[in-house]
Amino acid sequence: MVSPLVLILCLITLPLFIFVFQKQTTLKNKAFPPGPKGLPIIGNLHQLDNSSLYLQLFELSKKYGPIFSLQLGLRKAIVISSPELAKETLKNHDREFAGRPNLIGQQKLTYNGLEMIFSPYNEFRREIRKICVTHVLSSRRVSSFSSIRKFEVKQWIKKISSHASSKKVTNLNEMIISLSSTIICRIAFGKRYDDEGVEKSRFHDLLNECQAMMASFFVSDYIPFLGWIDRLNGMHARLERIFKELDKFYQEVIDEHMNPNRDISKGEDIIDVLLQLKNHRSLSFDLTIDHIKALFVDTLVAATDTTAATIVWAMTALIKNPRVMKKVQDEVRNFGGQKDFLEEEDIQKCSYFKAVMKETLRLHLPTPLLVPKETNKTCIINGYEIPSKTIVYVNAWAIHRDPEAWKDPYEFYPERFLGSDIDFLGQHFELIPFGAGRRICPGIHMALASLDLILANLLYSFDWELPQGIKKEDIDTQVLPGLTQHKKNPLYLIAKNNKDL
Ligand code: HEM
Repeated sequence: MVSPLVLILCLITLPLFIFVFQKQTTLKNKAFPPGPKGLPIIGNLHQLDNSSLYLQLFELSKKYGPIFSLQLGLRKAIVISSPELAKETLKNHDREFAGRPNLIGQQKLTYNGLEMIFSPYNEFRREIRKICVTHVLSSRRVSSFSSIRKFEVKQWIKKISSHASSKKVTNLNEMIISLSSTIICRIAFGKRYDDEGVEKSRFHDLLNECQAMMASFFVSDYIPFLGWIDRLNGMHARLERIFKELDKFYQEVIDEHMNPNRDISKGEDIIDVLLQLKNHRSLSFDLTIDHIKALFVDTLVAATDTTAATIVWAMTALIKNPRVMKKVQDEVRNFGGQKDFLEEEDIQKCSYFKAVMKETLRLHLPTPLLVPKETNKTCIINGYEIPSKTIVYVNAWAIHRDPEAWKDPYEFYPERFLGSDIDFLGQHFELIPFGAGRRICPGIHMALASLDLILANLLYSFDWELPQGIKKEDIDTQVLPGLTQHKKNPLYLIAKNNKDL
């Protein structure tokens, strides 16, 4: 047993030793980017607020420039805030910047990174991404789910239409989260929960807990020798509990899919596809049940919230900009003619609508710092030496407002995209809501298929008004903390039927 005296000595000397070590490496590493001064051991951790990190980092970039550094406990971090440096990191040094930091919550809930989003950059990740892009997220697969999207959006429009008939105020946040989770549950595991049912609320609670834990701060991630704090404050126990509940839920879903009597007449879902891949054993590694569970987490986490948040932000921007609202409604209604519902193909012809979607993802991208990355090896960026294992934040929120790249960057002005070839597929570094390079979002086509169909039909079927006594200036753009930026205060609107549904 270690004597208490030795333990006390260690507790006193270890932080001192680390402080001296931090100082020494900073002195040795003269070419590291500048940044705000921090405290010994914790660095800048006490100065950062998780709920609006992208805003704080934007303010700091005004002082320290488009590349600056932070000390997060014992970990070094850099922040990139210009299109030029985004290109430098996500294209020219793409390979070196393709890692992900190993964070406790994310690792635990993804079975130690047996998936795509949070896995480190290695052979396994390349292989699993290839499999998913080919078999799960391909255009063919996305099209095969179109009847699900159409059915669910139609049902949902009918529900809003009944609100409209009874002049009921619609809570768009609630409605859209419910729709996007219904679509993703059907696509991912073929389930359709009753709106008010216990099962749906169990699923939502689990998903919310999972996302909260993935975005939570664990001391161990930044100051490992103080990791005991996570045990003391109950974070570890909470993580374990949530992991067990989620694992039970995934296992139930997989067991249902493995039942030989299962009815597959309604088509394959993502779990079916993954189980087939597992059974065929045609891959370069054994796809296990844990891989399937981890990829299941990816789909739920990546797809549900991002889609819902984007639609809410689009409607928020449009209700605050009646000119744009009218123009885009005229366009979709013109293309829709006498139809009662706009199909996915109809929407592809609506160029102003497409510009509205781009402008929404420019000003209100749901993941403003993308997904944080980590360098795999030392490299030189803008004359600075960035060591291996540095955490990298690409502040896309700031990049999307760069006055060098955008005229009137704060204005919601979709016309800027008409006649312009700028898109968000990872080639134009001033617009990167889906990231760029090796880790670019592989779900772009899946995302756009839902986003287009939902927003276009909301605009096609209804005129939108603010509840009595509310002015457009009253609608705020505050956000909730989390991996995805949701509008904090729900968007309440009154729908008026434009069509007989
Ligand atoms: C509005 C919708 C969406 C937005 C804005 C979005 C955005 C992003 C961003 C910014 C990243 C990180 C890119 C980077 O690190 O540079 C990402 C990664 C990812 N997204 Fe999406 N996403 C959306 C929808 C989806 C959907 C629908 C799916 C799948 C069904 C999906 C699956 C993924 C996966 C698997 C990754 C990890 C890729 C990797 O690390 O290799 N996303 N997404």
